[in-house]
Amino acid sequence: MKILYVASEVTPFSKTGGLGDVAGALPAELAALGHEVKVVTPRYASIQDSRLTPTGHHLELRFPFGLERGPILSLRQAPNLEILFLENEHFYGRSGIYGDTWGEFGDNHRRFAYLSIGALQLAQRLRFFPDIIHLNDWQTGLTAVALQRGFQGTALARSKTVLTIHNLAYQGQFGKHVMDELGLPWDLFNAEHGLEFWDAVNFLKGGIQFSDALTTVSPTYAKEIQEPEGGASLDGLLRRRRGVLTGIINGIDVHEWNPEADTYLPARYGANDLSGKAVCRRALLRQAGLREDTDAPVFGIVSRLAWQKGVDLLLEVMPQALQSDIRFVAVGSGEARFEDGLRALQHQFPEQVGTYIGFDQGLSHLVEAGSDFFIMPSRYEPCGLNQMYSLRYGTVPIVRATGGLVDTVDGSMDGDGILFEAFHPAALLAALRRAQALYAEPERLLSFRRRGMGRDFSWAASARKYERLFASLLTE
Ligand code: ADP
Ligand code: GLC
Repeated sequence: MKILYVASEVTPFSKTGGLGDVAGALPAELAALGHEVKVVTPRYASIQDSRLTPTGHHLELRFPFGLERGPILSLRQAPNLEILFLENEHFYGRSGIYGDTWGEFGDNHRRFAYLSIGALQLAQRLRFFPDIIHLNDWQTGLTAVALQRGFQGTALARSKTVLTIHNLAYQGQFGKHVMDELGLPWDLFNAEHGLEFWDAVNFLKGGIQFSDALTTVSPTYAKEIQEPEGGASLDGLLRRRRGVLTGIINGIDVHEWNPEADTYLPARYGANDLSGKAVCRRALLRQAGLREDTDAPVFGIVSRLAWQKGVDLLLEVMPQALQSDIRFVAVGSGEARFEDGLRALQHQFPEQVGTYIGFDQGLSHLVEAGSDFFIMPSRYEPCGLNQMYSLRYGTVPIVRATGGLVDTVDGSMDGDGILFEAFHPAALLAALRRAQALYAEPERLLSFRRRGMGRDFSWAASARKYERLFASLLTE
């Protein structure tokens, strides 16, 4: 099959969260299965890779607000896998992916219309007529809309679109003036069959309405988003489209996240010999400014500091949890209230808490390797990747029973992690206490670690599921 994969972030070139990880790994896995895959993504200013070469092709998109043009650059990763970068100084030649310290960029509707519609024009320019156009999140929702409205009668019209929802809470909502600004026909501004959402324009809704198939990143989340509680006001529409909606669990990049070969770590290790993990643990404590010669259990977290992630719950519980002899290391960035909260916690418990506010790839690997437990108290979690990284690194995840966390962590007595149900301080505190009890039984702890390290989270199985879904669309 020919697959065009469109994403607003692609690891290792750009990343704000798990979407980047997925877009960096799944296309490669599909290519390994023999498909011809082209990935389309913006060339952000931070992407300074000398291997990017001009294709000689340019995009030229005429919007009512003006003509936007820019070159298409290429990086071939395998004979049948190419990453295509859209360059546009005006849209992507600034620092930040979706925003900067001042907040979201005010022209994101234009920036991602350029990506969404540009991906289709690119296919035409390169004469690459995909069987499947695989879209990701609201940033690419307009591709599905544009394909049905602007490209009928072209060779692209027979392409099938699949939209993967990585996070239903981010929808790309803009004032209705963007209809005229982007030249979208006003008949699309209706709630029943178009992009209208409470008198605003909603890019994700457009993608959900106009894509041939929908997926989300875990089976449990696929159910949750069809309920009012998890549906972010789109549950009605998702129920209407449930016949084409499936949940396919994410895999992880087992090359990047491999404790036996991880070059970010001061020592490497496998399930049979965990001595390297102890070295990582000491390095982590040292880097966090804590004494490294402690036997106390180390709890880690690496997270976007957003409401979704339950950082507030953690901040509420930690002062009490830290009354026992434990260590806590946090790496994250995001909302100021959570950043401040973590700093204050460190200030209050300087001997036990280390925090790093910022985005640091190497440190995220060290936290996974050097911690004994990894905490994810998410309010909701479409899939979550960190719990899988933790399992692979022999670090026991403590997760709230929601979304993909339920589908990936085995919370049973002979499992590999600790699950708690209620989004409530007492429930999280009890889970932390269970972790401490487990830590006090080294043999049992070792069994937990080993079971986690033995799990297969590679992309192979999930890529096959996408492949089957794609194939079913082509025989319709
Ligand atoms: P989400 O996509 O909702 O943020 P995931 O668990 O799917 O959650 O993926 C998060 C990814 O982002 C992981 O690879 C994690 O290591 C990474 N990450 C999050 N915050 C940071 C940070 N401050 N520094 C480095 N990596 C981070
Ligand atoms: C989103 C979700 C996260 C998921 C990631 C990759 O960012 O919040 O749970 O793992 O996408 O699909």
